Amino acid sequence: MTQDELKKAVAAAAIEMVKPAIFDGEIIGIGTGSTANFFIDLLAEFRDDIKGTVASSEASAQRLRSHGIEVIELNDAGTLGVYVDGADESNSHLELIKGGGAALTREKIVAAASKKFICIADESKLVDQLGAFPLPVEVIPMARSYVARELLKMGGNPVYREGVVTDNGNIILDVYDFMIATPQKTEEEINAIVGVVTNGLFALRPADVLLLGTSNGVREIT
Ligand code: 5RP
Repeated sequence: MTQDELKKAVAAAAIEMVKPAIFDGEIIGIGTGSTANFFIDLLAEFRDDIKGTVASSEASAQRLRSHGIEVIELNDAGTLGVYVDGADESNSHLELIKGGGAALTREKIVAAASKKFICIADESKLVDQLGAFPLPVEVIPMARSYVARELLKMGGNPVYREGVVTDNGNIILDVYDFMIATPQKTEEEINAIVGVVTNGLFALRPADVLLLGTSNGVREIT
């Protein structure tokens, strides 16, 4: 199977998992990226049943609306029943690296506001140790050089993601050569640097379920 076929298969499995929440009238949190896009496209079938969705990016909001799916503001939604999103890496504890699409801050907010976080990914995303994928860090623009120096002191190699402005008007530093042995501690330490909005480690609030597309079918890890 191709990577896209694996992504589509996990998106379909996630649809089955969120159906009860849809029919219970829960608001559904929607992630960002190519795997989340497959989920959005499959969700279109339920446009008339869904009470509302909260999107983790402008791009996902636009895609949802293009299918006629209602998108509301998180501030008007209360606690979300379920959040479905992809990841750049996951370990077996369902701690993640996210933010390859620069949507990490809104993704982290929507995940925090959700009762259940279902992560959908193809099998290439499951790793023993997080960090081969460069860790995205969203930074207030004026703090870019200062934060980069602090990340260097922590042992990483931060690289400015040229030409990218987040939905929140900030910039992204991608931290290379940074194998992460203690994800929760690293998440806290980077977030404590002044000027950092958040980093792409989802370890303090990991996923609750990982649906992994493999050539032998969808594997569920909890
Ligand atoms: C966007 C993300 C995405 O979930 C992550 O980059 C995975 O993307 P894809 O499903 O395209 O592989 O965190 O900020």
